Amino acid sequence: MKAIVYEKYGPPDVLQLMEVDKPAPGGDEVLIQIHAASINSRDWRLMRANPFFIRLMTGGLLRPKNTILGADMAGRVEAVGRNVNEFQPGDEVFGFLSRHGGGTFAEYACAGEDEIVRKPANLSFEQAAAVPMAALTALQGLRDKGNLQPGKKVLIQGASGGVGTFAVQIARCFGAEVTGVCSSRNLDMARSLGADHVIDYEKEDFTRSGKRYDLILAVNGYHPISDYLRALSPEGIYVVAGGSMLQLFQAALQGRRGSKTGRRKTHVVSLVQSQKDLVLMKELLESGKVAPVIDGCYPFGETAEAFRYFETVHPRGKVIITLKQDGSHHVARAGLVRPLGPRSEGGLASELGNQGPAGCQPDDPRLKWNLTPSDSDRNQRPAGYGPGELPNYVYAMNLRNFAGV
Ligand SMILES: NC(=O)c1ccc[n+]([C@@H]2O[C@H](COP(=O)([O-])OP(=O)(O)OC[C@H]3O[C@@H](n4cnc5c(N)ncnc54)[C@H](OP(=O)(O)O)[C@@H]3O)[C@@H](O)[C@H]2O)c1
Repeated sequence: MKAIVYEKYGPPDVLQLMEVDKPAPGGDEVLIQIHAASINSRDWRLMRANPFFIRLMTGGLLRPKNTILGADMAGRVEAVGRNVNEFQPGDEVFGFLSRHGGGTFAEYACAGEDEIVRKPANLSFEQAAAVPMAALTALQGLRDKGNLQPGKKVLIQGASGGVGTFAVQIARCFGAEVTGVCSSRNLDMARSLGADHVIDYEKEDFTRSGKRYDLILAVNGYHPISDYLRALSPEGIYVVAGGSMLQLFQAALQGRRGSKTGRRKTHVVSLVQSQKDLVLMKELLESGKVAPVIDGCYPFGETAEAFRYFETVHPRGKVIITLKQDGSHHVARAGLVRPLGPRSEGGLASELGNQGPAGCQPDDPRLKWNLTPSDSDRNQRPAGYGPGELPNYVYAMNLRNFAGV
């Protein structure tokens, strides 16, 4: 099978499309044909070995031990081990895989039966792959660490990223009064996800506004911990999902002290594999109360390019990797990813003539999967495309993905 392999730590150039052995499921595992995967900060950190101690934690001091990145995925069950009862070949599933260190940037991966659930019927594979890690981090941070309750005043700092877009929607589902903090370009999106109030962090420091919150979920600890404590109500809880080691350490340490006095508390959320939580997310997604936000989709062969985008831009929601099911992933030279210019290289639309492949109408849904609201006004407008011409660019990208050119 083909997989995106990294044999050394470093920038996205280390990601190579290679031929590797197809995994075989153990007795209590299922083999999944991956249709889509999504990028998380975890993948970026593992790729760059940032922070350094990741090398020690993963047993890859000099070079990566597990050479295929990716944890989130959606796909179809291809085979099941003899002890598997819950799934059978053909089932459409989603989840995040941790048992073998992930490995979802590949055509196939093995999963424990308890790591996956059936894909929500109303979601595409791309949408389903956007969900697991980000949504469960938001859910577990708000509900388990933050004791989220109806009517509570909740602030989500980083409301427009992978975790934050789910956090806003989940907090609303629990009946909280939600304030979303993000940059000005994303304020409308945060509102559209259900935020009652929005704050532009470029214009206002919420920790100095005098307002108090019962729960603050920071996707990253952008402020010193004393700032967060100041913005909490007397019994308030601060939960942090990411940030520098110092920020995480401080939050964990302060949390112990806070618990003793029974007043303000601080917690670090650490994502826990939970099939039960994934089932809850499936229900919220199927009811339409929560929907994934997708910044863009990249074809499998352009995974390195997707990482370049992920690490240089603040993506809106999630960045997705899509796999073709006919095995025709573009490989320029055997074992190597095609070196790509920046995503802004112009002229694609004219190069491709804005035509679908023979027999394919312009409204063919296969050409549409990359169209998301965020594409229409994305800051990263490609060179050579004016505001009204962006759909042409997206169309051309989709065409290229579909045609495999
Ligand atoms: N603990 C766990 O188990 C776990 C699990 C999964 C993820 N994480 C962690 O969660 C973190 C967030 O992941 P993510 O994928 O949601 O990140 P992300 O997509 O990079 O989102 C970043 C968010 O923060 C906002 N932001 C950027 N600079 C800011 C600033 N100076 N002040 C306030 N807000 C700012 C961004 O807003 P704009 O885009 O509008 O600028 C965006 O909404 C990562 O550190 C990751 O490691 C932890």
